[in-house]
Parts: sequence; C-alpha cells; structure tokens
Amino acid sequence: MKHIYKEGKEGKPTLLLLHGTGGTENDLLPIGNFIDPDAGILSVRGDVLENGMPRFFRRLAEGVFDLEDLVKRTEDLNTFIGKAAEDYGFDRENVIAVGYSNGANIAASLMFHYENALKGAILHHPMVPIRDKELPPLKGTSVFIGAGTNDPICPMDEAKDLQSLLEGAGADVQIHWENFGHSLTQTEVQAAAAWYKNKY
Ligand code: MLT
Repeated sequence: MKHIYKEGKEGKPTLLLLHGTGGTENDLLPIGNFIDPDAGILSVRGDVLENGMPRFFRRLAEGVFDLEDLVKRTEDLNTFIGKAAEDYGFDRENVIAVGYSNGANIAASLMFHYENALKGAILHHPMVPIRDKELPPLKGTSVFIGAGTNDPICPMDEAKDLQSLLEGAGADVQIHWENFGHSLTQTEVQAAAAWYKNKY
C-alpha cells in the first residue's frame, strides 16, 4: 500500500494514520505529529478508489458498507502492517491507530477482526464497521472516540454502539462529543492528544 514511514524514538508507539474518504497519506501527518512528535508514523493511503477518491474499503452507498470488501481490506491492511513492522523494524505490538471517518472505520474493523492488531486507537467520527459479529477479546486495548452530536454522516447512535461493542469485548473506551457535524475540530484533536498523553 502507498504509505509514508517515519521512525520513532526507541520504545515509542507507531501511529498508524488512516485518512478519510478522498484523503491521502499526507492528511493526518500534522495530527500525528501533534499527538506525539516522538512516535513512529506509518501513514497509509487507502487503495480503493470511489470516483477517484481514495478509501480503505468499498461502500454501496453513504453509510452502507460492502462487507465482503471490508473484511478482505481489513485483512490486507493487517498483513500490510505486519510486513511494514518487519521491513522497518518497529514493534508490531505497539501500534496505535489514528483514523478519521473512513479511516476510523477501517481501524475499528481491525479491532473487530483481530485480537492484537492495535494496542489502541483514536477514532475520529467512526461508525460501527460491521454488526452481528463476535469481537475478539480486547482487554488492554484503549480507544478514544471523537464524535459529533450533529454529525450527519456518523450519527450519535453509531458512536455509542461502537463504544458499547468495544467495551463488551473488554476495551477501555472514552468518548468525546463535539457539535460541529462531521468536522474534525482542533478541540477534538486536543482532547485526543490529552487522552493519549494520559495513556502512553
Ligand atoms: C464511510 O464510508 O466509511 C463513512 O461513511 C464515512 C465516510 O464518508 O468516509
């Protein structure tokens, strides 16, 4: 997958940056740097194109996911992270995702499918990636969800359901509410950075 890698300081996590629909691997670099300037960075471009816009998996309509494709792309991304860890020599067990919108959804899907894919995740404006699925045990996984009370793309119930599904699997989840629709605001990023500093 097309990506940017930056080595972190010894013992620091690697931040897996996952952009929103129509984004690129450059979009979240300033946020990754703000959250932890000493962390490693693995910023990936989604390799699905929707009318020329990069995404991490196909969708049938807005908010309606192609689940077969989601499962396959989640597996591909998990394999890619493992390969990148070998190639670049970072710790595969110390990867924290930072995703926005479609990128948050594939990050959530990684946790829904694989027990040790992520040590933690910052999910900006996520949805429940797939329903009626038994989650792997997620004890020890910490998740920050940033969501909008008036987000027309990711409604409040999606964020709340995601929180309870992750908590049901043993994850420790904190949810932060904003009221700026689907936008990723500075205050939300600051809340995520404060959460991260407290955890790692
Ligand atoms: C998705 O397709 O993952 C969500 O609808 C969010 C987005 O528009 O990317």
